[in-house]
Amino acid sequence: MTVLVVGGGGREHAVIKKLKESPRVGRIFAAPGNGGISRDAECVPIKAGDVPALVAFAKEAGVDFAVIAPEDPLVHGAVDAFSAAGIRAFGPTADAAILEGSKIFAKNFMKRHGIPTAPFSEFDDLGKALRYLESAEYPVVVKADGLAAGKGVIIAADRAEAEAAVRSMMEDGAFGESGKRLEIEKFLTGPEVSVLAFCDGEHVFPMASSMDHKRAYDGDRGPNTGGMGTVAPNPFYTDEVARQAKERIFIPTVRGMREEGRPFRGCLYFGLMITDDGPYVIEYNCRFGDPETQVVLPLLDSDLLDVMEKTVDGTLTADDVRIRDGHACCVIMAHEGYPGKYEGGFEIVIPREIENDVYVAGGTVSDGKLISGGGRVLGVSATAPTLEEAVGLAYRRVGMISFPGSFYRRDIGKRALSAYNG
Ligand code: AMP
Ligand code: GLY
Repeated sequence: MTVLVVGGGGREHAVIKKLKESPRVGRIFAAPGNGGISRDAECVPIKAGDVPALVAFAKEAGVDFAVIAPEDPLVHGAVDAFSAAGIRAFGPTADAAILEGSKIFAKNFMKRHGIPTAPFSEFDDLGKALRYLESAEYPVVVKADGLAAGKGVIIAADRAEAEAAVRSMMEDGAFGESGKRLEIEKFLTGPEVSVLAFCDGEHVFPMASSMDHKRAYDGDRGPNTGGMGTVAPNPFYTDEVARQAKERIFIPTVRGMREEGRPFRGCLYFGLMITDDGPYVIEYNCRFGDPETQVVLPLLDSDLLDVMEKTVDGTLTADDVRIRDGHACCVIMAHEGYPGKYEGGFEIVIPREIENDVYVAGGTVSDGKLISGGGRVLGVSATAPTLEEAVGLAYRRVGMISFPGSFYRRDIGKRALSAYNG
């Protein structure tokens, strides 16, 4: 089968490496891919957001199956466009991707279906939002309604910060149209857990739970990033929490979407917070998470193409989504200065013996050499029977890669390890 994977980061590299394990996968194209991905797939220079060009290419190249990984094309109807052209595509239709595309839709959806989430108020009028802040309880969380490349959430400690956040979104248009509408919600506390689940419109089968490390520096300090590392499974996701999440969140979400005529088919990402009252939904994403995918797929003991096809066809069963015992860790290597200003363009040498465990997030190839690009450059992963071993192995592999000004956190997995060790 000829497969096209849309996107070009570490997540897409992990999807491609997993698909390559399937005996039924023949050619793999990536659009646009990146320099690292070009060692595993044929990269075509089409942007992930250029849906008409992607569909035209897929028809011409005889693509049998497309995987749409990033949120932007999903929210803008890429899967609908591929289907209309007669090509099966993995991912939700635009109708269902709205769970990520509009936070206000998602919050009202959860309210309609009794799914636990922080109480909220929605606004499309600056004056009303500012008046609401006069009597709000702080901290509050201000969220732009639409897609904002992971930056549309501001935790405001007091009224002044909240006003600044609201004004930046509604008055200054910090996130363009995405922030003209916003919602303000109650600040919750508790450990966060990511759960990525295959949903075929009717059934939902989670993969291993995971923990992201979003802050740039050790000890969960410094600015927010796209994610500096992950471990799976997440120790805060106990069997009891998993049972509650399935009953109160996963099943009602999939059932609710079906009942509303928007069946969700694809990978649904549940961003959960484990509060004293059990799991709450912090956010839905309509796709694989990055860098969660880099730890969750290595623990999937199934043929990914098989799972994806059954997800699209609505024929997924529990036996199809098998999770391996053991643990995984992924450490992100970035350029010094990320998420602020950084310099790129350095040669990266990845030793052959660990090539399979390295997911390249950004980079190009020049004269056969891999040249670093993007803020986050690559992720180095490992699986092992225990978390301690997985973390140790991931860091030993990090030690085998170097490029000038490389920067990574030294404490990925530390919080999870102390949770296991009580
Ligand atoms: P989101 O983009 O919705 O995932 O939000 C980004 C981050 O903001 C989350 O991972 C949480 O750490 C934090 N956050 C979002 N909503 C809340 C909330 N209601 N209470 C506390 N923290 C939150
Ligand atoms: N790791 C968070 C995300 O993919 O949105």
